[in-house]
Amino acid sequence: MLLIDDGVVVAALDILRKPLHHAGTTFQAGGLSTVVTRADLRGRGYGHRLVTDARNTMMDLYLDLGIFTCDRPLQRFYESAGWQHLPNTVLIGGTPDNPFPSDQPGFDKVVLAAFFTPAATQAAPTFPNTRIPLHPGHIDKLW
Ligand SMILES: CC(C)(COP(=O)(O)OP(=O)(O)OC[C@H]1O[C@@H](n2cnc3c(N)ncnc32)[C@H](O)[C@@H]1OP(=O)(O)O)[C@@H](O)C(=O)NCCC(=O)NCCS
Repeated sequence: MLLIDDGVVVAALDILRKPLHHAGTTFQAGGLSTVVTRADLRGRGYGHRLVTDARNTMMDLYLDLGIFTCDRPLQRFYESAGWQHLPNTVLIGGTPDNPFPSDQPGFDKVVLAAFFTPAATQAAPTFPNTRIPLHPGHIDKLW
């Protein structure tokens, strides 16, 4: 997604998607990646608008839920855009053979989510305080 103001790309992000197996159910999950606002245009609300719109776009894509990690200092930024912090949740990236967890040494990540469909909303209480095998592969190792 690109946010364009007067012909200039001011902010951008990617929505990544894959099936997520959790609590005996397979959900269609989306995640945010490469969220960025032009360095000279930060602090003007562009990022807020884009990560808010990304949540609505995930619903338009018929995803069950959105889930991703971010550095802890950005938790408030995403919460203010309608994303929900999942306390003590760890996303496990990489692959089953070569996992890339969000709580590895040197990382200080939190997990954010939004639950869209009735099935996801019903399962939402099972998402905090758990380790979730996302396993997106070797390229986008962790959302
Ligand atoms: C994170 C980023 C996309 C925010 O974009 P932005 O357009 O500056 O954000 P906004 O102007 O909409 O800011 C919204 C709020 O988030 C806060 N915020 C923004 N960046 C922040 C940061 N790095 N740390 C803590 N808070 C931050 C702002 O202070 C603002 O809060 P306020 O409304 O209380 O003043 C931008 O700082 C950026 O591109 N950073 C480098 C890349 C990066 O870290 N991406 C995130 C990957 S998960």
